[in-house]
Amino acid sequence: MVTGVAAVLTALSGRDYLSSADCSAGETQGLIDLAHQLKSGDRRIDLGNRVLGLIFSKASTRTRVSFQVAMARLGGQTVDLHPSVTQLGRGEPLQDTARVLSRYCDVLAVRTFAQQEIVDYAYWATVPVLNALTDLEHPCQALADFLTMQESHGDLAGQTLAYIGDGNNVAHSLMLCGAVLGVNVRIACPEGFEPLPGVLEQARSLAQQGAQIEVMADSAQAVRGAQAVYTDVWASMGQEQEQAEREQAFAGFCVDQALMDQAAKGAIVLHCLPAHRGEEISAEVMESAASRIFDQAENRLHVQQALLASVMGGL
Ligand code: CP
Ligand code: NVA
Repeated sequence: MVTGVAAVLTALSGRDYLSSADCSAGETQGLIDLAHQLKSGDRRIDLGNRVLGLIFSKASTRTRVSFQVAMARLGGQTVDLHPSVTQLGRGEPLQDTARVLSRYCDVLAVRTFAQQEIVDYAYWATVPVLNALTDLEHPCQALADFLTMQESHGDLAGQTLAYIGDGNNVAHSLMLCGAVLGVNVRIACPEGFEPLPGVLEQARSLAQQGAQIEVMADSAQAVRGAQAVYTDVWASMGQEQEQAEREQAFAGFCVDQALMDQAAKGAIVLHCLPAHRGEEISAEVMESAASRIFDQAENRLHVQQALLASVMGGL
């Protein structure tokens, strides 16, 4: 079993990170602990002049910039590719692009729609591939979220995170990563917007230390006793045309002060961002003392630096 930071740096060397289920409990906790050490300055890692290729088919502020800065802090550089400015946009096959980019880059981070596409990149690439968000998962985000929860409430095992909103990519990774870390995860969502049954089943089968992974329709029930309350946009990238319909479906699923009052004393508020104030989160909660949203955004940098260092075998 992998435990501790040094073991993680070795165990993840050369590996992909496509799903929150790709790392064991020890590896996931080790990544979070390494991120904490990098953040506090207790550990410095210089990988020399390595290169990260970013292949993003969707917009991004946090993921793009935090990957770039993480790579710079490791002594490396980033090339920011976009299908519209590469031959990918003109139909060059992924299996050729992935093999060619592997000859130039030491690691690739891909943001796209279908999970299968990132699985295909990982198959064809000869360097590690990292999931920078797909419609199915957002595993780098979940690492930052649980680092933020650990900073506020200490040991993660046995804590409870309530997620209010759409049961899609962010919720899926929270369920899987939470299960692996022994965190109870409750998803509250309107009917028709539940997490995929296969992901729920997978999370339950991965759950450590008796962690409960639950899906429900009642936000108040979900937040009761929770140490963290989390939300995300109602219409994700690629679903913009469903905005009006989703506003109706998600009415009543806003994280507002009345809901926060029902969570555990000292509960923190998390949001992956970008946020829509007045929809999934009230402006009051967003700016409240309980909000750790901007620490969470900062933690993207530290966990991705830990992940990059680990997959590139940086000791
Ligand atoms: N949370 C997140 O992934 O933000 P970006 O879409 O800005 O990268
Ligand atoms: N669920 C959102 C997350 C953005 C970081 C989306 O996919 O757009």
